[in-house]
Amino acid sequence: MKDERSGIVGTGFYLPERVLTNADLEKMVETTDAWIVERTGIKERRIAAAGEAVSAMAEKASRSALAAAGVTPEELDLIIVGTFTPDRPLPASSCLLGGRLGNHRAACFDISAACCSFIYALEVADKLLRAGEYRTALVVAAEKISAVTDWKDRDTCVLFGDGAGAAVLKKGAERGAILGCYLGADGSKSSLLEIPAGGSALPITHEVLDQRLNFIRMEGREVFKLAVASMVDAAREVLKRTGHGVDEVAWLIPHQANLRIMTAVAKRLGIPEEKVHVNVDRYGNMSGATVPIALAEMNQAGRLRPGDLVLMVAFGGGLTWAATLIRW
Ligand code: ACO
Repeated sequence: MKDERSGIVGTGFYLPERVLTNADLEKMVETTDAWIVERTGIKERRIAAAGEAVSAMAEKASRSALAAAGVTPEELDLIIVGTFTPDRPLPASSCLLGGRLGNHRAACFDISAACCSFIYALEVADKLLRAGEYRTALVVAAEKISAVTDWKDRDTCVLFGDGAGAAVLKKGAERGAILGCYLGADGSKSSLLEIPAGGSALPITHEVLDQRLNFIRMEGREVFKLAVASMVDAAREVLKRTGHGVDEVAWLIPHQANLRIMTAVAKRLGIPEEKVHVNVDRYGNMSGATVPIALAEMNQAGRLRPGDLVLMVAFGGGLTWAATLIRW
């Protein structure tokens, strides 16, 4: 493999218009704004329209990233979408996205790594670009979690939101260089966070729907503990692999599941609060989409300066964990 890095040359994001506040949720389940804010830091989240699927949200985020990068859709050699809420089981949402963008030749595939899907997809795109066959890639994470949320379950329905984030990568780009990634998973703990039905193990039947097995279930307290420990480990490992110290990190972008998780991760790593980008209060947990949306938001706001080291770290269903270090 040639040692020519790839880099992020454009970012974009899309959030659906509809805002669902904690006050709205108070009318739907037995909860309070005070509980949600205290336990999660979330104040509101976005909900996609009825007919608005993942590929439609991904297209909007992608067009914004492509415009920022000055890249046309036809130039893309590779389109990867990270999602666990694809438009439908077949075909992949990445193929639908390629069609929507008017690219009729790029290699397209989806990656399913829950909240880690953007970093997983970034690692795959980076390695393929560096290997020589591909020059330009589009990496998107998009989720319509509202479609798999049990709106009668207060344990989970207050947590999630919908959205899409995208990045355009180019082989040999200096800016946004991906310095390293670290990925891992432990499937033995998969039942802590799952959608039990809707796949080949348990196809949808009337009984499945009656038992509400087609929605997300989570052992929140257990996942919380593992999230903090795994994100800290993953962050340390990617810093070690790239030979950088935590003091050199300009920005930490953690997966936005819960403000308390992010605070605990930053504290354990010794990264001060002002270096941590937070948007969970406005958008909730959008799974894999949270990290690229945060990156694009920071980029759009001009917060990222050339040379800044950006550490992104995530944890989620699988269970999966992932971290990457980028030099802006
Ligand atoms: N409103 C009011 N009370 C509630 C609500 C609610 N919405 N939800 C739960 N409660 C109650 C519980 O019933 C429980 O009551 P009890 O003490 O009488 O039994 C009490 O509040 C405390 O519940 P816990 O689950 O212990 O609360 P916790 O502080 O753990 O917060 C939360 C729950 C927010 C889910 C937290 O555990 C969490 O964030 N977990 C990690 C989430 C995560 O990181 N997921 C990974 C990524 S997601 C993905 O991959 C798709």
